[in-house]
Amino acid sequence: MHHRPNPIRGSRRDFVLGAAGLGLAAALPPRFAAAQQAPVITRTVPKTSEALPAIGLGTFLTFDVVPGQRREHLRGVLQRFWEAGGRVVDTSPLYGTAEINVGDYATALGISEELFFANKIWSTGEYLADESHARRSLDLSLGRLWRDRIDLMQCHSLVNVDVVVPYLHAWKKEGRIRYLGVTHFENPYQAPLAQWIERGNLDFVQVNYSIFNRAAEERILPLAAERGTAVLVNMPFEKARLFKVVEGRSPPDFAREIGATTWSQFFLKWILGHPAVTCILPSTSNPAHAGENMAALRGPIPDQAMRTRMLRHMETIQGFDRIAQMPWYPDKRYVGIIARSQAELRART
Ligand SMILES: NC(=O)c1ccc[n+]([C@@H]2O[C@H](COP(=O)([O-])OP(=O)(O)OC[C@H]3O[C@@H](n4cnc5c(N)ncnc54)[C@H](OP(=O)(O)O)[C@@H]3O)[C@@H](O)[C@H]2O)c1
Repeated sequence: MHHRPNPIRGSRRDFVLGAAGLGLAAALPPRFAAAQQAPVITRTVPKTSEALPAIGLGTFLTFDVVPGQRREHLRGVLQRFWEAGGRVVDTSPLYGTAEINVGDYATALGISEELFFANKIWSTGEYLADESHARRSLDLSLGRLWRDRIDLMQCHSLVNVDVVVPYLHAWKKEGRIRYLGVTHFENPYQAPLAQWIERGNLDFVQVNYSIFNRAAEERILPLAAERGTAVLVNMPFEKARLFKVVEGRSPPDFAREIGATTWSQFFLKWILGHPAVTCILPSTSNPAHAGENMAALRGPIPDQAMRTRMLRHMETIQGFDRIAQMPWYPDKRYVGIIARSQAELRART
């Protein structure tokens, strides 16, 4: 099946020229301005050898705002991310207005075609051969991201996975997506994720992995490496709980050996030390945090001895072993559609 081109998108070149004509050229990012910087750390997608920068950007809660609210900071996040060498952006139609905001700002900055969009399908309405729900979701995502093709489409949290993965394979053949994968973020679902890596002919798997929650090392990461499946990592900061545990402390001096001067760089570099990881997806609503996180995309990567030392250090910090009992996003406040409906749900129960 041929996909109808988006009539308003045009080519990247047209957009850039058009943007320049409108006086928007200054908004185009001065990427890699500092030539003296260490090179960006990349990892390759095993099935194609395509290189991707190893730190991307998540959008859950952070890119979701109630319509009409201030959202300019999100342009700043995307711009800092891009200028620092980032490309992979993970979103979902299930993240409130996040997909719309990412699509808007990526287009306004003129970088939409350069980004690697990882998007998702959460489709519960299928029965037998009725694929209308999933197709509609794909079409809406293409429109919101202003793209003719989505780089990676993932089955969101294994929802309706038996039905959705065959569609993803069909869409890949049709050229509507370039890669396919499945995601989850909770340890008990790593067993079914592993089964899908084994039998699903997946290009990507997305899994939770952090210096606190290392369960993915047992099965998912070795299996993905063996089967040639790329790995995206979610919840690298344990939904901000890692920052709460280290509040008021500085990273250890030895972290300078791997170029980590902040806690976020410490946590990201630790994950990068696992060779099966293709790209980590930290999410932020703060442009300064985006810059800080993306600095981990350059410089040394910890070896196994250093990773053990980093973990041992964390184990000396009070509260580290109790992160799982802490509420998500301590001290953070997101006023988006998702946060609002979560609050309404809590009030009712
Ligand atoms: N089922 C799924 O497919 C699934 C499930 C979970 C997650 N994901 C994906 O993975 C992404 C990442 O996971 P996540 O968003 O759950 O959690 P996360 O990335 O572990 O944590 C995000 C939190 O960390 C904070 N943060 C980021 N950088 C910081 C810095 N430098 N200093 C201080 N705080 C910082 C953010 O606050 P600020 O806004 O203040 O920076 C935000 O509250 C998601 O956005 C989503 O794209 C997918």
